[in-house]
Amino acid sequence: MTHINSSNPANFISPGAPPLTQDQLKTLVGQAALQYVVPGEIVGVGTGSTVNKFIDALATMKDQIKGAVSSSVASTERLLALGIPVFDSNEVSHLSVYIDGADEIDGHGNMVKGGGAALTREKIVAAQSAKFVCIADESKLVQTLGKFPLPVEVIPMATQRVMAQFAAKGGTANVRLKDGKPLVTDNGQHIIDVTGLQIADPLAFEAEVSQWPGVVTVGVFAFQRAQVCLLGTATGVKTLTF
Ligand code: 5RP
Repeated sequence: MTHINSSNPANFISPGAPPLTQDQLKTLVGQAALQYVVPGEIVGVGTGSTVNKFIDALATMKDQIKGAVSSSVASTERLLALGIPVFDSNEVSHLSVYIDGADEIDGHGNMVKGGGAALTREKIVAAQSAKFVCIADESKLVQTLGKFPLPVEVIPMATQRVMAQFAAKGGTANVRLKDGKPLVTDNGQHIIDVTGLQIADPLAFEAEVSQWPGVVTVGVFAFQRAQVCLLGTATGVKTLTF
């Protein structure tokens, strides 16, 4: 992992300034991500509160891009409300860059994602993109994945079986609820969140769990890891490259 501080002076925090809130750090990295957007092209757009800041910043250069491929209904609605055209993933063969947040990222660019329940479409758009730029505040940087509950999108009839498979690995799985009922994803499926895991080998873990019957998507992003992370820190935006 290489660390460099952003060369953009706007991304430095002056010494003695009051510490930025997590929300301000998200705004900073959302704006910093604009430097990776390729003029004249379509950009891949993730989901979440950090990405919302990116979408707001993207609106300032909407006349310079063709539009976006979106990873969720929520991001699509925000993009369209700001006048940014949204393309179906199937209409676009290749994206130069995908910008998205993460729940955790390690020193190799492996991530846990899915806190916003959009992991399946996020993985699809990431897979069609040449570069994944992760935007996050520094609370998301971890040594080993597993601190944040691991989201897994499952076909409802497989929920109990998949939960039992995680229990055999030492994890504890819970069905994610919304208004007292299982949350239903944009794809009509459910999410389980698994705690108690230490994911020392993210690639092997993702490969294994992805094959369990009924698993739609596991929230480990190792095959679609980040190449760049723009990390919001007390001293400004740090650029990590992997
Ligand atoms: C949504 C995601 C998000 O990228 C992740 O949850 C981070 O979100 P936030 O920027 O709100 O912290 O994976 O499914």
